[in-house]
Amino acid sequence: MKQGEYIEKAKEHFGRLLEQQFARIEKMKAEKDFIDYSSLDRIIIGVVGGDGIGPYITKEAQKILEFLLAEDIKKGKIEIREIDGLTIENRARCNQAIPEDILEELKKCHVILKGPTTTPRAGDPWPNIESANVAMRKELDLFANVRPVQIPEEGIDWVFYRENTEGAYALGSDGIMVNEDLSVDFTVATYEGSYRIIKAAFEYAKKSGKNRVTVVTKANVVKTTDGMFLDIAREIAKDYPEVEWDDWYIDIMTAKLIDKKRRQQFRVIVLPNLYGDILTDEAAEFQGGVGTAGSANIGKRYAMFEAIHGSAPRMVEEGRGIYADPSSIIRAAGMLLEHIGYTDEASRLRMALDICGIYEKKLLMTGRDTGATGAEYAEYLMETLREASLKERWQAFSSKK
Ligand code: IPM
Ligand code: MG
Repeated sequence: MKQGEYIEKAKEHFGRLLEQQFARIEKMKAEKDFIDYSSLDRIIIGVVGGDGIGPYITKEAQKILEFLLAEDIKKGKIEIREIDGLTIENRARCNQAIPEDILEELKKCHVILKGPTTTPRAGDPWPNIESANVAMRKELDLFANVRPVQIPEEGIDWVFYRENTEGAYALGSDGIMVNEDLSVDFTVATYEGSYRIIKAAFEYAKKSGKNRVTVVTKANVVKTTDGMFLDIAREIAKDYPEVEWDDWYIDIMTAKLIDKKRRQQFRVIVLPNLYGDILTDEAAEFQGGVGTAGSANIGKRYAMFEAIHGSAPRMVEEGRGIYADPSSIIRAAGMLLEHIGYTDEASRLRMALDICGIYEKKLLMTGRDTGATGAEYAEYLMETLREASLKERWQAFSSKK
């Protein structure tokens, strides 16, 4: 082909991408307000195992949910629904990031607890389909990825509001291989998409009393999309005079997160998708690794909660699936409880997780037969949750630290 023909083909491709994005903007504009869980007769919680260690750890998280919600499950106020088949084998067979029938099932739920899913990359035995995480965030329009990181003894109390449907991810599987010499990817920011995440971050900063927002971009270089993100932040900040705010570039922000003094000043951090992906892994590492953090993916109609670690297929191949540590997905289950209004259950679960995983540590999770199994850990958690003096014990532990 001649150069001109390559360019024509690429332009057509680009035109289709813009059409898709305009359609998405229309959808965002038509969106209603956030769902009110208290007005529902029944809340349906979908539980998706995923791949690798996913089904093992998710099963334990489901036990905890069933334990804490037993009464309302009996009354029919809550339904826990297992959704099978979001496995890499099945996704590869259908050649879809989320097979249609599974997506349909997901859409019948209100909230979803999801185990890790394998993300194929070039060179894997799987077709290079889009990540199931990314597809689910897009399909269910889960625009706010909320990731808290807390280390009280170091003065760290951060909540990341990562934009979850745009940026480098929106067209991550739709770049253009113009010819063998030239490849182009795209990054997308829309007014609606930027507005709703920044607004959510400011709203949270105000409601929680944290009253501080840091906006992170690379607007000095990525002038169009990040520039727009920052401009919108400036505009929104005017509506929140009580919330202090500042803006940082991602490079220096990454550095300042390891500055022990400086980092104590951050509270709510809002940022485009890819920067959020990277910075939240860095942040979780301070707290004890990505395996210790939970992640909430929140939209107006749906919400999905997940562990932020991967599916660890090797553990399963080596027969160690039962030893996988379920605490990250159980933390995610706690965020789910909080989100649907079970704040008391959520706070008890948080305390039990702290006692079992950080303070008392009666069981050691090593990921192999030298440690406890996930099922034993869940049992330990439930024992701790049953204790009448749970709160007093937690307070005693946390004040000693
Ligand atoms: C995350 C993960 C995903 C992401 C991967 C699995 C696609 O790293 O949730 O942060 O990049 O968003
Ligand atoms: Mg990540």
